[in-house]
Amino acid sequence: MNYRAFVLAVFLAVTIACGSRNPADVQVVAPNEIMDFSFLYARNCSGCHGPNGTGGAAIGLGDPVYLAIAGDATIRRVTADGVAGTSMPAFAQRSGGLLTDDQIDVIVHGIRTRWAKPDALQGVNAPPYAAQGSGDPQQGAEVYATYCSSCHGPDGRGSKRASSIVDGSYLALVSDQNLRTTVIAGRPEWGAPDWRSDTLGKPMSPEDVSDVVAWLAAQRAQFPGQPYLSAARAEGGIR
Ligand code: HEC
Ligand code: HEC
Repeated sequence: MNYRAFVLAVFLAVTIACGSRNPADVQVVAPNEIMDFSFLYARNCSGCHGPNGTGGAAIGLGDPVYLAIAGDATIRRVTADGVAGTSMPAFAQRSGGLLTDDQIDVIVHGIRTRWAKPDALQGVNAPPYAAQGSGDPQQGAEVYATYCSSCHGPDGRGSKRASSIVDGSYLALVSDQNLRTTVIAGRPEWGAPDWRSDTLGKPMSPEDVSDVVAWLAAQRAQFPGQPYLSAARAEGGIR
């Protein structure tokens, strides 16, 4: 058999094999009925939160420190309703998403049972997940100098060790809670420390966390995404 005849034979064999499949043999599962955690997570979450919860553009949901501070009710609420003003979508059907409440339960339960570790904090109390009252940005500047400047630079604009965290576009796209979560849980996959701040040997207090988040929030640009306009304003060129 020459090459062209061989290719034709393979093509015919594949076509016949596929065409002869009995449609009744094919199991079609309606999207609403998929209850497999790995599938649901990979399809809906891993693009931003990383494969297997390892972190990506958004925080690693499989980080045991994160799971020790964030309860199931929080994870369920954020997954269902999203975070307004950020790229975290709402997944519940009642909020315009594609997942049923049962599927969201499968995801929340799967995250907890697969990735949480009971001894993640080794008996140390972490600052609370939710802020209790607003922090003081002036105090926060001092907290920043103590706990953050060695990596993010003296004014937050970055150094060789870590990037800028006062960039207008970055701060415009994250919520205060996300900043708080990042300060408490760190980003271990990137070498960003959690609130225990391993280099200083002195963990951040709950007030330190609230204050540094208030300082970061105070750096938000009035006109995010318009660096030329705001730079020109700062120079006094445009009023
Ligand atoms: C398009 C990107 C994207 C996708 C897809 C996505 N997320 Fe998110 N998620 C984000 C971002 C960005 C944040 C941070 C939002 C903020 O600033 O508060 C976030 C935050 C969260 C948080 C809160 C973190 C905290 O601070 O406590 C949870 C929980 C979460 N996502 C769960 C999920 C789950 C579960 C899925 C899949 C069903 C999912 N996300 C899919 C981008 C995404
Ligand atoms: C030992 C170095 C180090 C220290 C100290 C440190 N960070 Fe980071 N941080 C990093 C690295 C590395 C990253 C991830 C990569 C990057 O942004 O360059 C990061 C990321 C972040 C992010 C997330 C950026 C994103 O894309 O989501 C925030 C917010 C942040 N740090 C805030 C802080 C604050 C606030 C402090 C002090 C309380 C602090 N960091 C202390 C190294 C550090």
